Amino acid sequence: MKLFSIIGNPVLHSKSPILFGYAYPNSSNEFAYFRMASQNVSEAMQLFHELGLTGMNVTAPFKNDIARLADVRGPEVEAMQASNTVVLENGKICAYNTDIFGVSGSIENGGVTIAGKRCLVLGAGGAGSAAAYALHSKGGEVTIANRTLEKAAQLAARVGCKACALNEIEKIIPQADLIVNTLYEDVDVVNEAWLKPTHIIFNAIYHNSKLASKAKKAGCKFIDGAYWLLFQGPPAYRRFTGLEPDLENMKKALLPQKTPKHIALIGFMGAGKSTVAPLLGRQLNMPVIEVDAVLEQKCGNTIPHIINEKGEVFFRQKEREVLEEVLASPTPSVISCGGGAVTQPELRKLLKENSIVVWIYASPEKCVNRIDVPSRPILARHADPYSAAVELFEKRKFMYAQTSWMLVSSNHRTPEQVSNFIYEEVGKVLRG
Ligand code: S3P
Repeated sequence: MKLFSIIGNPVLHSKSPILFGYAYPNSSNEFAYFRMASQNVSEAMQLFHELGLTGMNVTAPFKNDIARLADVRGPEVEAMQASNTVVLENGKICAYNTDIFGVSGSIENGGVTIAGKRCLVLGAGGAGSAAAYALHSKGGEVTIANRTLEKAAQLAARVGCKACALNEIEKIIPQADLIVNTLYEDVDVVNEAWLKPTHIIFNAIYHNSKLASKAKKAGCKFIDGAYWLLFQGPPAYRRFTGLEPDLENMKKALLPQKTPKHIALIGFMGAGKSTVAPLLGRQLNMPVIEVDAVLEQKCGNTIPHIINEKGEVFFRQKEREVLEEVLASPTPSVISCGGGAVTQPELRKLLKENSIVVWIYASPEKCVNRIDVPSRPILARHADPYSAAVELFEKRKFMYAQTSWMLVSSNHRTPEQVSNFIYEEVGKVLRG
């Protein structure tokens, strides 16, 4: 079963930068891929090891930090000092950069042969490095232009090409065949009068930039940056899974997706779902639904009583009924799910279809320390709740992973910080 497309998310494709995503096999060699909201590379790597992950995509602004941190670096990472794909191989963190295939794939897909082309790369940051490396390795004659000449010169020396300052491009553009723009939307350095219909422009910026409209007006061949995202995907997917990706499926993930109306919080007991939900609801101005509370009201009894007296099968059935009803409601809500909701395949599917699913994660040990064990019959029935929690979490983690759009760790965050983090990330999706 293929659960993900490496370039986007089966539920949502946010225009905002993906902080981290990772591939994660279970015992039957299925894979799950989702985002990990992380404030820095150390936190991401800590979670990578703690969760037993095997691969991770990395986006700006963490590409340089992850390259530094890796045990083994591919030659392209050595040259660019940046990585977008890390894979655990024989216990070592190996860093690769598939952005170079994003560049060459996009250009070649546009019917352009790179070999022999005079190429001008605007910008010497992460994207500029990938462009310069990719074009040079495909036989292009590359010049890197950057506001700080020194930075362009350093990159050019590592890649083996030429460098110039941005104020020199007026002289270079008439001789160039291919211009790759990696500068931010608001940096406007190319004069429309310098462009000719014979120019090929590849705009690494996904959003419309000033250069995009100028290129179109000047009649240049224009290649959209969205292809970069597409073509960096397959080589990362191969590294993660050892399988051949379905490019058509990946293309679909690039299309605008419908944003689900609800926000569902999933995760182990004690991760912080019920504490974070009201904070997030307040921030987003959305009502909050605590599934366990609705269930207790519906059954007229407490959860421990229901599970102990009527059994877990009965409880799961009620949990399914309540969550189905809540997810079908037209009022967008923040839904705090019970820790075991993801064990039901129908609910995993419904959650993904109807909500932006956020996995609040804390280590099982931390979770047990935070909860009142007797009120959680699933753990209370075991003599040692710690080892029971570790075992149960191991059984469930793939289900959390395959259901969620994004993980946020509450290991070292207060509920307010968790809520703020979710608010920021989910807000980018809601705002479009
Ligand atoms: C359960 C988690 C609980 C509650 C029930 C079962 C589970 O919810 O639904 O005790 O199986 O993990 P919380 O995660 O809110 O504690």
